[in-house]
Amino acid sequence: MNELGRAIADHIARNGPIGFDEYVAHALYTPGLGFYAGGGGAGRRRDFLTSPEVGPLFGAVLGRALDAWWDELGRPDRLVLVEAGAGPGTLARTLIASRPRCAEAGALEVVLVEPAEAQWATHPDGVRSRVDLPVPGTFGDAAVVVLANELIDNLPFGLVELTDVGWCEVLVSTEGDRLVEAHRSLEPKRAAWCWGKSGRAAPLGTRIPVLADAASWLAGALDLVAASRGGRVVLFDYTSRSSELARRPWTDWVRTYASHGRAGHPLEDPGSRDITVEVPVDQLASVDEPSSERPQAEFLRAHGVDELVAEGRARWTELGIAGGIEAIAARSRVHEADALLDPTGLGAFGVLEWVRPA
Ligand SMILES: C[S@@+](CC[C@H](N)C(=O)[O-])C[C@H]1O[C@@H](n2cnc3c(N)ncnc32)[C@H](O)[C@@H]1O
Repeated sequence: MNELGRAIADHIARNGPIGFDEYVAHALYTPGLGFYAGGGGAGRRRDFLTSPEVGPLFGAVLGRALDAWWDELGRPDRLVLVEAGAGPGTLARTLIASRPRCAEAGALEVVLVEPAEAQWATHPDGVRSRVDLPVPGTFGDAAVVVLANELIDNLPFGLVELTDVGWCEVLVSTEGDRLVEAHRSLEPKRAAWCWGKSGRAAPLGTRIPVLADAASWLAGALDLVAASRGGRVVLFDYTSRSSELARRPWTDWVRTYASHGRAGHPLEDPGSRDITVEVPVDQLASVDEPSSERPQAEFLRAHGVDELVAEGRARWTELGIAGGIEAIAARSRVHEADALLDPTGLGAFGVLEWVRPA
């Protein structure tokens, strides 16, 4: 067992088995030893590639989206963009570099929320970095957009399983020097919730994730926007439905990643791998029904990705290889768009929006 595994096992020996959500929190975020706290994460040289890490196109489209939202809000003097789960800050950097009109007009303020301070080193100049979501009212009467790319799938989540004694919470315990799963029966009210989510015909062994932390994070983000002069919460993630997840093996929708590949069982070598879950939209919708849900490809097209690609292609034709870095960046938009719009990959991610008018 590695150092973090031993620390978790000691904690279990002292306090008893822990919930799967508590285990994920330890494995990802324990200072110094957790996957994110230790410097793992998104990026070409790190562990997995996210939309902002594909290249600057995603940030440029988001710059256009931000301008459209600013226009809809009546171009307020202050528009605060709170990017949650900012990781190394690539999305904010590329969005600012695309010079959205709201920034040129001096209205845009950017706040990055990233608990793993190891990632702050690359946050762009002029932004504020913080470890947690600002409380409602922090920004006075500014308009507020809360944005998060691949955050929700990374928040600690619990697991429940239908066993021969009924619905149980999946716990993490120890056996010899290994971390192993254990079960604890759920009280009738929580078991009823599980039946509601899984459908009545669920066979023994059915599992569902429980995104309680994600639901309370969303409630906090919606409160932050509600206390402001309008705005929205926008989430990008791989999405599903609880009933659909119930029909698939859990190892299909709880995924581990390290060094650009799938890693092994989540209980092995905690801290060495990312642990993520497909996001059941219905569990977020029970906090508040989203104003819209659409695939990433559709969202990016609605905000002008095709125009940016055409612009890039034209610039490349005009400048050719003699145009150096600028021309090559223009040409690479074509390939970036292929990746961002891929209907079997990033293009199929879900974009959820909760819109609050001014
Ligand atoms: C999968 S990474 C995504 C990074 C970046 N958004 C991207 O798309 O490349 C998720 C990030 O969320 C951060 N995170 C975890 N819990 C958080 C929380 N409660 N609030 C904000 N960020 C959090 C993690 O430390 C990690 O950097």
